Amino acid sequence: MSTTEFDQYADQYEQLVHDPIRNRFARGSEFFALRKWHLLRDYLRRRKRDAAQMAWLDVGCGTGTLLKLAGSAFASARGCDPSEKMLEACQGLDVRVQTENRLPYEDRQFDLITLVCVLHHVPPAERAQLLAEVARVARPGGVVCIFEHNPWNPVTQLIVSRTPVDRDAQLLTSGTARRLLRQAGLRDQGCTYFLYLPEVLYRSLGFLEQLGTKVPLGGQYAAFGLHHEPAGANARRGTA
Ligand SMILES: C[S@@+](CC[C@H](N)C(=O)[O-])C[C@H]1O[C@@H](n2cnc3c(N)ncnc32)[C@H](O)[C@@H]1O
Repeated sequence: MSTTEFDQYADQYEQLVHDPIRNRFARGSEFFALRKWHLLRDYLRRRKRDAAQMAWLDVGCGTGTLLKLAGSAFASARGCDPSEKMLEACQGLDVRVQTENRLPYEDRQFDLITLVCVLHHVPPAERAQLLAEVARVARPGGVVCIFEHNPWNPVTQLIVSRTPVDRDAQLLTSGTARRLLRQAGLRDQGCTYFLYLPEVLYRSLGFLEQLGTKVPLGGQYAAFGLHHEPAGANARRGTA
């Protein structure tokens, strides 16, 4: 699969991800983006990380949905994607075109890096290369978050199998996502499952989702990694 595959979907992206079951679950894409942002925000708060001090990069940002929603909460918010046409919807955002799996940024630029529903479009043999790039542009102490469809949820599987933009998708389990984070040298920070309740129920019963965060059946999951560096590594690099 080519990394610019999404160029062909860009013009009709919103229509192409619509599905009768998905539409019953939520009225539009906003609900899914909002859930991700709140999960991320709560994760950072629990770890006493101040988003207003953090530089955020959204890899595979597509049309910039999450950047538009949450960008203003960060000191800076940037995005990159191999699909130039998807990025055309990102007017006003700080985005760059990415060539293949190489991220167009210098080393150690970001305190938070997200990949939202990106890795299932990356062939398995190329995922480690992309994660190595993510680790390269992360600052020590930086957080990496992979949001993905959960292949263990049968409704997710059904929707993905019917969605045109997911024709070539190869879903990955949370175990695979966490292994990719570890292989890139990041410290595994665990995984949260979410999207159990449709939007209409979530409004009043959202607290119930807390019961399922460790049960691997939510519609999607978030796997977290932390860029860490052995004490003194900075100093050693300086004298090398
Ligand atoms: C399903 S869309 C998700 C877009 C956005 N993250 C969102 O959640 O709305 C998948 C995106 O991943 C991008 N993509 C595909 N291969 C990629 C790669 N190797 N590196 C970064 N992004 C990639 C596609 O161009 C597309 O914009």
